Amino acid sequence: MKVLLVFHTKTGHTLEAAKAIEEGIRYAGHSINVIPVKECDPKHLEEYETIIFGTPTWFSGACGPIKSFLHKIPKGLLENKVCSAYAVMGGSGGHKAVEEIGIMTSEKGCIDFIHGPVIQAGGFMSMWKGYAVNRSDLIKCREYGAEIVK
Ligand SMILES: Cc1cc2nc3c(=O)[nH]c(=O)nc-3n(C[C@H](O)[C@H](O)[C@H](O)COP(=O)(O)O)c2cc1C
Repeated sequence: MKVLLVFHTKTGHTLEAAKAIEEGIRYAGHSINVIPVKECDPKHLEEYETIIFGTPTWFSGACGPIKSFLHKIPKGLLENKVCSAYAVMGGSGGHKAVEEIGIMTSEKGCIDFIHGPVIQAGGFMSMWKGYAVNRSDLIKCREYGAEIVK
């Protein structure tokens, strides 16, 4: 199965989670590309069966760069694909961020959306790095990676 993980990060936590998810997917014997959203063209999505979106929580929703990217995806391109999202939050709003991505992927044709993990790291409404992703959340990310390719 070909998996793409497209993410945005300002202070590194969403990338740290992405690396743990990548480990889980590779451990399960599948290939994955991890690409920062700013380097990803919506056309890249065509070649993947499963697409994971990784976002920091911004203002109780998904971050701007991920939302802009989702807006640019042509209608219907996500038909027959499994989509999923995970979010990192300093305090609250991560579930809303994931749900927002779920709605946006459905607008592009996805009917199979998996609500991924919500991870605590950073600081609430903070531009500073704050506290790191903890060990149990990294394990949760690895398990989610291994599970999504089953
Ligand atoms: C503009 C902005 C808005 C944020 N809004 C929220 C928020 O609504 N809820 C929350 O829990 N954290 C919020 N945060 C904190 C980030 O979600 C948190 O620090 C996260 O770990 C950052 O991920 P990153 O290291 O991948 O950038 C916000 C951060 C920024 C920069």
